Amino acid sequence: MHTIQELQDYINIKLAEQQFTGNPPLLYEPINYTLSQGGKRMRPMLTLLACEMFGGNIENAVYPSIGLEIFHNFTLLHDDIMDKAPIRRGKETVYKKWNINIAILSGDTMFALAYEYMLKTDSHFISRILPVLNQTAIEVCEGQQYDMNFETDGDITIADYIEMIRLKTAVLLGASLKIGAIVGGADDVNANHIYDFGINIGLAFQLKDDLLDVYADVEKFGKITGGDIVTNKKTFLYLKAFDLANETQSERLQHLFNLPETEHNAKVNGVKALYDELNIEQLCKEEMQRYYEKAFTALDKINVSNQQKQELMDFAEQLIGRES
Ligand code: IPE
Ligand code: IPE
Ligand code: MG
Ligand code: MG
Ligand code: MG
Repeated sequence: MHTIQELQDYINIKLAEQQFTGNPPLLYEPINYTLSQGGKRMRPMLTLLACEMFGGNIENAVYPSIGLEIFHNFTLLHDDIMDKAPIRRGKETVYKKWNINIAILSGDTMFALAYEYMLKTDSHFISRILPVLNQTAIEVCEGQQYDMNFETDGDITIADYIEMIRLKTAVLLGASLKIGAIVGGADDVNANHIYDFGINIGLAFQLKDDLLDVYADVEKFGKITGGDIVTNKKTFLYLKAFDLANETQSERLQHLFNLPETEHNAKVNGVKALYDELNIEQLCKEEMQRYYEKAFTALDKINVSNQQKQELMDFAEQLIGRES
């Protein structure tokens, strides 16, 4: 078994070998720009890791793993337009550096490229892995639409939020693991258990992303903080704060929520102060912990030795403490 670090290095080497060139250059430059920026490479790493966990050779999972990383990066190009995010991985986002139309089209191209890479997998597996990616792609869009709807909708519950993040984020982690497992020789029962592990890890991962969006060290995070507050995202933090707020706190939160984006600092600092009063950071960490435990329950059901599961357990540990 390879370590997480070895798998990440391997993916970076393999990705660097790929050519994403063509005409017109304005379509392809943003693709190279995005894919060469690094990032955690979590999804392809999970694909390779799952493949090895079931006894497969990672070489057989390289192409689908690259496809999944391209797919992920496609979602980021469009997500940054939707979220009006200026910085990602410490660099200007594509729609800022070029323009919105370019970010849409380069993203569309990456969506197709993701499928092209999927199709390079041993033909034997195609009929099992393509439906996984198809369903995931549709669900991610559903989640992203909920995310946008919730910016302006009232009466969103924590259960609504969890379903939204399951769709926009967790399903892709589940799918990355499931596709790797299939290529590694897993049967459907075990592939579904690892998918469930991925869903629960994915929920914890997005909870942490939302937490970092408020509290991260910007240098490490690579994204600006406070973006979710400014755009009125209905995160766990926000919803929990509303649940727990007394009448005056509730009014303050409502007032801050209605401040325009031009009042960036006042809005972010005001909401943060309220989160601190209500101990929201700690509550969010406890919520994350609940999903970790569910993930480990799913992991227990997978029919491979504990030794084979070790890397995945280490990965989960690293995710809890992540700062980027
Ligand atoms: C960002 O994903 C989008 C979310 C689902 C929160 P990552 O945090 O995995 O982004 P990179 O690829 O490491 O930059
Ligand atoms: C991203 O959620 C989900 C997808 C990209 C599908 P966020 O909007 O929170 O991700 P970041 O924080 O911009 O990376
Ligand atoms: Mg978003
Ligand atoms: Mg975003
Ligand atoms: Mg975020």
